[in-house]
Amino acid sequence: ESYSFDHVLYAHDIAGSMAHVRGLEVAGLLTHEECSTLLETLAAIKGEFEAGTFVRAPSDEDIHMAIERRATELAGAVGAKIHTSRSRNDQVATTLRLFTREAISHIVRRCLTLVGTLVAVGEAKPDAYLPGYTHLQRAQPVLLSHHLQAHAWSVLRDVDRLLDARDRLNVSPLGAGALAGTSLPIQPRVTASLLDFDEPSANSMDAVSDRDFVVETLFDIALLGVHLSRMGEELVLWTTSEFNFATLGDDFTTGSSMLPQKKNSDVAELARAKSGRLVGNLTGLLVTLKGLPLSYNRDLQEDKEPLFDSVRQVQLVLAAMDGAYRSMTFHGDVAALAADDQLLVAIDIAEKLVGEGMPFRRAHEVAGGLVGRAVRENRSFADVVADEPTMRDYAALFEPGTALANRKSPGASGPSAAPEQSARLTERITSLTQRL
Ligand code: ARG
Repeated sequence: ESYSFDHVLYAHDIAGSMAHVRGLEVAGLLTHEECSTLLETLAAIKGEFEAGTFVRAPSDEDIHMAIERRATELAGAVGAKIHTSRSRNDQVATTLRLFTREAISHIVRRCLTLVGTLVAVGEAKPDAYLPGYTHLQRAQPVLLSHHLQAHAWSVLRDVDRLLDARDRLNVSPLGAGALAGTSLPIQPRVTASLLDFDEPSANSMDAVSDRDFVVETLFDIALLGVHLSRMGEELVLWTTSEFNFATLGDDFTTGSSMLPQKKNSDVAELARAKSGRLVGNLTGLLVTLKGLPLSYNRDLQEDKEPLFDSVRQVQLVLAAMDGAYRSMTFHGDVAALAADDQLLVAIDIAEKLVGEGMPFRRAHEVAGGLVGRAVRENRSFADVVADEPTMRDYAALFEPGTALANRKSPGASGPSAAPEQSARLTERITSLTQRL
C-alpha cells in the first residue's frame, strides 16, 4: 500500500482526474451531463479531504484507488466511467508531475527569500568586513556584503536549476494508459493543455516509466542542501568563541542541559546535517531506478517518500537559515581586527612592487622574505617593512581598511567594486523572479 504516504497527493490527483474527465467528454466518451456529475463528485471528494472527513476503505491501496472508489460510491454508475482509457500508471505519473511542479515553485520562493535576506544583512552593515579565508587560513579582507553575496549566487544557481527542472518536467503523461495507449479516440493534447503542460508525452512507454523529473528535483534539492550546509558550517564557526564574528538570536540557539554557559548554534548545525539526508534521498532513488525494465514497475512507487521528504526538509532548512541570518548580530569590530592582520598586507606589498615595475614572481619572493623575517625575529610585519629603505612610503598599506579598499578589480571584495556586483545580483534576482 502507499496510501499512508501518497494521500498528500489528493489535490493533484483530483486536478488530473478533472482534466481527464473533461478530455473524455471532448472525445465523446462521456456526455456533457456525465462529465458535470463527475466534476462535481471530484470537487466534493476534494472537500472531504480538506475537511478531514475522507475515510479510507481497507481496500484502498493508494490515493488513486481511494478517490476512484469514493467517486463510484458518490456518483453511482457514472463513477465507473472515470477510469476510461486511463491506467494508474499514466495517472500517477501525471499526479506526481503536478505535485513536483508546484513543490519546485514553493522551494524557489523560499530560496529567493533567503537570497533577499543575505543581501539585506550585508546592506545593513555596508562597511563591515572580515577576513576571507582559503584553506581556512586568513587570506585577504572582504566586505561582509561581498561574502554573503557569494552564498546568494550559489542559491541563485540552485533556483536556475530548479526552474530548468520545472520546465523539463512539464510534459503530460495522460493518454499513455498502462503503457501502450488506447484504442479509444482520446486527445492527449486537450488534457495536457487543461493541466498547463506544454505538450503530451510523445511516447507512451516513456510516459509511464520516466522518473527523471523526480531524480533531477532531488539532485537540485541535494545541491541546494549542500550549499545550505556550507552556510550552516560557517555560522557555526562564526559563532564560536574562537572566531566570535557573530551571535545568533536566542530563538535560533539552544542551551546545554548540563553546561550553563553554552549557547549552541543548533539551527546552523541542523542545516549542515540535513544535507546528508537530502543526498541520501537522491542516491536511494537512483539505485531504485537502476536496471528497471520498461515500462511501469511497482518499484516506481518508491519515488514518493524521498521526494516528499526532500521537499519538506529543504523548505524547513531554508526557512530556518533565513531566520538565523535575520537574527544574527555581526561583530564588525572583532571581524575587522582579524581582517586587518598585518600579514594580510603581504600581497599588497608585492603588488606595489609590481606597480613599480618588478616582475610578480620576484615581488612575491621579496614580500615573502619580509614575512619570513618578521616571523623569525618575532617583530611586527609593518616594522620590518618600515626598515626597508626602498619601502618608506609603504606604511600606508598597513592602515586599517586599506587592504580592503585596495581590492578593486571587477568582482573583487572591496567597496569600490561593490555597486556593480550588487547591480548584477539584483538583475539576476529580477530575472529569476520573473521566470518563477
Ligand atoms: N501507487 C502506485 C505508484 O505509486 C500507483 C500505480 C500502480 N500501478 C499499478 N499498475 N499497480 O506507483
